Amino acid sequence: MGYKTKEWRNSMRVTVDYNYMMAKSLGEKGISDSQLRAVKDEAEKAFGYVAANRGRDDLYMGWTELPYNQTEIVDDIIKTAKAVRKKFKYFVVLGIGGSALGPIMAFNALKHLHYNELSQKLRGGPKFYVEDNVDPVRMAALLDVIEPEKTCFNVISKSGATSETMTQYLIISDILKNKGVDLTENLIFTTDASRGNLIKIDKSLGGKIKKYVLPDGVGGRFSELCPVGLLPAAVLGIDIKGLLAGAAYMDGLCSKPSISKNPALALAALHYIAMQQGKNIHVMMPYSDNLKLVADWYCQLWAESLGKAQDYSGNTVNAGTTPVKSLGVTDQHSQVQLYIEGPYDKVITFISVDHYAVKMPIPHGCEDIPDVGFLGGHTMQELIQAENKATAYALMRAGRMNYTIYMPEINAFTLGQLMYLLEMQTAYAGALLNINTFNQPGVENGKKATFALLGKKGYEEKKAEIDSAPEIDGKYIV
Ligand code: PA5
Repeated sequence: MGYKTKEWRNSMRVTVDYNYMMAKSLGEKGISDSQLRAVKDEAEKAFGYVAANRGRDDLYMGWTELPYNQTEIVDDIIKTAKAVRKKFKYFVVLGIGGSALGPIMAFNALKHLHYNELSQKLRGGPKFYVEDNVDPVRMAALLDVIEPEKTCFNVISKSGATSETMTQYLIISDILKNKGVDLTENLIFTTDASRGNLIKIDKSLGGKIKKYVLPDGVGGRFSELCPVGLLPAAVLGIDIKGLLAGAAYMDGLCSKPSISKNPALALAALHYIAMQQGKNIHVMMPYSDNLKLVADWYCQLWAESLGKAQDYSGNTVNAGTTPVKSLGVTDQHSQVQLYIEGPYDKVITFISVDHYAVKMPIPHGCEDIPDVGFLGGHTMQELIQAENKATAYALMRAGRMNYTIYMPEINAFTLGQLMYLLEMQTAYAGALLNINTFNQPGVENGKKATFALLGKKGYEEKKAEIDSAPEIDGKYIV
């Protein structure tokens, strides 16, 4: 593997504790050992399906091999990133969905929480923005804080046909042209190897734009560990070899077909049983501001992968559970009341950190006010960990299913492990549900409706269909 020592890697192992999912903790509200045993064969079959189809482009399972098959690309990315860091003051990702959530998540997880506000010397690289919307106010706000001619724009789109990304591209390329900037200098495309409109655009500009490939068998939401995520991360100075080594390490931990030995399979099986028991909501609650956007990334991974109308046998199943983003401890003061006393319809995933990058001692003070004085002499790390533990415990006492993913610390290696764990968990869950985890017909339908509404050629029929929808009845508008 060539990534630090074996001892170091083992000391950075991400682990999963699912005691609070089980009947031993929750009584009849929990999952019994016999219920877990009852899905053993199905879990083994799901494992077998994923193992047998690893790397298959036609099934969109190329993501499983990303930790292993990118040596040359990684070297090229590191070289390009070095040049970008030297030349540009700003780096902006234009993309949406799977083409944006990974880059923002890794940025938030591994860089200073106020990165853009640091001095150039402390940042060491360009200011970083990800535009994953078409809110005109947001685009105008971006243009207020960057200098386009000093900006490298990484346009990320597999299809090059996503209205949001291509709108951003049209606006930015127009601005660059009007400023007399050579587009090929300030743009990098990450896109499909040969198809897609970004390839056509590049050709029209003489084929000189630096391009990275979003591999054939890798869907948007599984793409963070390919150039989609690796280039922005490298530009930020993130150790991308560490991300991939972490993913490979987790792959090794998920190599057994047994629930008791494979953390991703265990979590998938637990969710599968919980779904059968009517747990329709899945809360992702990291206890770390750095991991806050892991919840955003994960919500897309889980929702787009598992939210499917039909299974492989053609049955209408309307599968999936609704992912909810939450942040510890902040949302203890907004959502946790519902989680503890509301309907028994949720599974809560905590992500806990053993060692935060700083501990932040709490000074002594207010000793004559017991409500405050007891805090002095502790650290903020102790406080956040105590609140995390207390919330998991309180949920367990209230009969609410929850489990914890422990990260020894937040670094590239542990983040790589976390991503791969959650991707594998999602793949196993989809296999257990017997659905196509890797397509997104619902998203594609939304894209087509937008094309129709904005008058794209070839979508006249869709437009007519939308126009012929029943009139919205005025009486229901207040
Ligand atoms: O996960 C997915 O496949 C989607 O969220 C896509 O990433 C998103 O729709 C953007 O598509 P594209 O990369 O083609 O612009």
